[in-house]
Amino acid sequence: MAAKIIDGKQVAADMRAELKVKVAKLKEEGIVPGLAVVLVGEDPASKSYVTAKERACEEIGIFSDDNRLDADTSQEDLMALIDKLNKDPKINGILVQLPLPKHLDESQVLLGIDPDKDVDGFHPINVGKMCVGEEAFLPCTPHGIIQLLLRNDVKIEGAEVVVLGRSNIVGKPVAMMLMQKSPKGNATVTVCHTRTKDTAEHVKRADIIIAATGWPNTVTADMVKDGAVVIDVGVNRVEDATKKRGYRLVGDVDFEAVKEKASLITPVPGGVGPMTITMLLFNTVESAVKANK
Ligand code: GUN
Repeated sequence: MAAKIIDGKQVAADMRAELKVKVAKLKEEGIVPGLAVVLVGEDPASKSYVTAKERACEEIGIFSDDNRLDADTSQEDLMALIDKLNKDPKINGILVQLPLPKHLDESQVLLGIDPDKDVDGFHPINVGKMCVGEEAFLPCTPHGIIQLLLRNDVKIEGAEVVVLGRSNIVGKPVAMMLMQKSPKGNATVTVCHTRTKDTAEHVKRADIIIAATGWPNTVTADMVKDGAVVIDVGVNRVEDATKKRGYRLVGDVDFEAVKEKASLITPVPGGVGPMTITMLLFNTVESAVKANK
């Protein structure tokens, strides 16, 4: 039986409509949530993410402060900008787009962001709080994945989840969130990575598969149990001469074949992608509420 396609655009639109109402109410109290986005350099994928973030802020009424810096910006200048944004009362969230150019020290940058404005949830204080189950800003892509599951009535509690990929942005945090002792967690989680002996054997057991490797066709139909739920986090460019731009976007999952075995599956694009920005807006609004308590 062919899977139901999870419509990330619709879930994101529903959540953004909820946020728009919340932002309008805050405005009546004189509160305007503000998000500062910092982009260093000219990476085309990062530029398009940042433009999409700014547009999304505008759409729901969040003040967006756009900071585009040259690729050769020094660590000192970047830290000075972060310090200024930390002190700016109009700013509730600071997002430094990753990856940074190689000469910049990413850990120092993340440590420099005020944890109360760390709407990406990447500061070690927020990572630590999330791990021990305390309230913290949750990283946007993992949090978006959990919302997609919950809003499609997928039972996380007790599920066998296999996560493919161990990045700090997706694999590690989503595994941690799903294993928390909480109604949104309580799953049994396995994380597979480049040194896993037999990834396919793990994936075959999974009720929920989360693919975040950055490689097309990491998950093929023979690896998927009948009725599994498949979440594809990958965004990969593959050459396609039939497209004007010369490429098309695919995920980490062999979508056409896997959708014949799964019960639910996210498409690329239009699955996890729209949720990441939505959860960033969510964290920024939460931060504004907290700052004005
Ligand atoms: N690069 C890719 N994903 C993200 C993200 O969620 N946040 C930031 N800051 N950079 C990213």
